[in-house]
Amino acid sequence: MIDVVEFLRGGLRLNPSLLAADFANLGSDIKLLELAGASILHLDIMDGHFVPNISFGVPVVEAVRRVTELPLDVHLMLSNPADYLQVFRRAGADLLSIHIEAVSDPRPLFDQIRKLGALPGLVLNPPTPVEAIESFANDCDLILAMGVMPGFGGQKFDPNTIDKLKRIKSIGKKDLLLSVDGGIGDGTIADCAAAGANLFVAGTALFKGDLKTRFKQLSELLKQ
Ligand code: DX5
Ligand code: ZN
Repeated sequence: MIDVVEFLRGGLRLNPSLLAADFANLGSDIKLLELAGASILHLDIMDGHFVPNISFGVPVVEAVRRVTELPLDVHLMLSNPADYLQVFRRAGADLLSIHIEAVSDPRPLFDQIRKLGALPGLVLNPPTPVEAIESFANDCDLILAMGVMPGFGGQKFDPNTIDKLKRIKSIGKKDLLLSVDGGIGDGTIADCAAAGANLFVAGTALFKGDLKTRFKQLSELLKQ
């Protein structure tokens, strides 16, 4: 797994968000993503409390784990993430990301995630300033800047995220995985890459057409 993360650090990667997949055919969508060249998968866990929506939980992560060896990037949109780290790790999460808005000090959770054998990530919402994560930026492996308020796919990207990515890039460690999630598509992905992001979570923009074609088109935009 750690090798895979080293690999992810080496380039700009599209990170498909399964929230936009066909849940009735999740296994075949994942196979199509693998064939298209995906090197990681993003899974959104929502509790209906931290965010005003409910997505899927542990059994779905387990099911995804059974059909792929790709690293699973699990985004916890939960009010009490500490209570669920172990179950999601056991279910197959390789990266576990928690929201700064949900915890006062993320460091004990990072320690717990590392002890479980996964890599910790920290997420911040559009209204949350970079200062809120600054003192923890070097204690985690991934920082995820939300381009939309979390809870739903298909929302419009907040352009302030670009400056935020630049700031995070400037304070983060050299090998930080800098991820962006929400509203990533043809019109926004290249600007996020120029701002320093290296992982691009995409749901709606990727699944809205033929998966292989859309994966290729969005990946091409990362090469320019
Ligand atoms: C939003 C989720 C995202 C979502 C992105 O709360 O964290 O991962 O799937 O969806 P799009 O790409 O449609 O904005
Ligand atoms: Zn997400």
